[in-house]
Amino acid sequence: MKVNKKPVLYISKSSTRLQIIKKERCMSKKFLYVANWKTYFSYTQSLAWLKKNKQQLDSIGQNNELIICPSFIPLQKLSLALNKTNIKLGAQDCAPELTGAYTGQVSAQSLKDVCCSYCIIGHSEQRIHPTTHSLDSMVVHENEIIAQKAQTLISQNISPIICVGECKLEREQKKTQQVIKAQLEPIVALDLKIMPIIAYEPIWAIGTGQTPTNEQISKAIDFIKKSFQSVNTQEEVLVLYGGSITSENSNILKKIENLDGFLIGKASTDIQELEKIVL
Ligand code: 13P
Repeated sequence: MKVNKKPVLYISKSSTRLQIIKKERCMSKKFLYVANWKTYFSYTQSLAWLKKNKQQLDSIGQNNELIICPSFIPLQKLSLALNKTNIKLGAQDCAPELTGAYTGQVSAQSLKDVCCSYCIIGHSEQRIHPTTHSLDSMVVHENEIIAQKAQTLISQNISPIICVGECKLEREQKKTQQVIKAQLEPIVALDLKIMPIIAYEPIWAIGTGQTPTNEQISKAIDFIKKSFQSVNTQEEVLVLYGGSITSENSNILKKIENLDGFLIGKASTDIQELEKIVL
């Protein structure tokens, strides 16, 4: 497949490319805005949305790191449309291995072919039993699959954005850190060449209009950052917050000192709302 856009996160000499990624991360240190479009738009609607809002989006992205994550089918067309803009492209999941028997899934290789620089993995809407207790054996096994996806993405020089977070019951039982620890353990054990991005997304805050307090978010971020202290990639792990972010609460959330960005769901599909959140 022919794509004109120059890949953002890879060149032929992968070690050189890795150095560039690391350098870019160190130099930019911009607040990251990741738009998770979930399944809000069809293929046609995704293209129409971008056509209508491309200029505005590009100017929002001039001084901010803006990443759009549409569903799979529009990726290729959006990749072409975003050529020479400030906006980067991400996917919403990938298969655990580069090739194999994974019916219905999309490989990291295909994501690389269409110039995805990022890929969300482990989103609670994708995990098998998002509402069950995250510590039971099935979900712990799932954490390992998510780590495998992260490894595969990194092999293609795509930055994984790994979602972690507790459900309501786990928060009430004060098990937030225990849950995050179980979700991160297989990731931290990987031989990481690129530091993944972690999104702290408490399940109870997604699409509910409820958000944790800044103190609760900051505590979770601190715990996540400490979990990566032993990982030697010379870069800092970036931690995003996601869950019911709107233009009404974004300025309050931005006061969290150890926060590196937002993972925005529904509000990212409204250009006026997105602009207010970013600017
Ligand atoms: P909302 O912003 O719609 O709550 O979704 C958050 C989310 O799941 C982003 O990945």
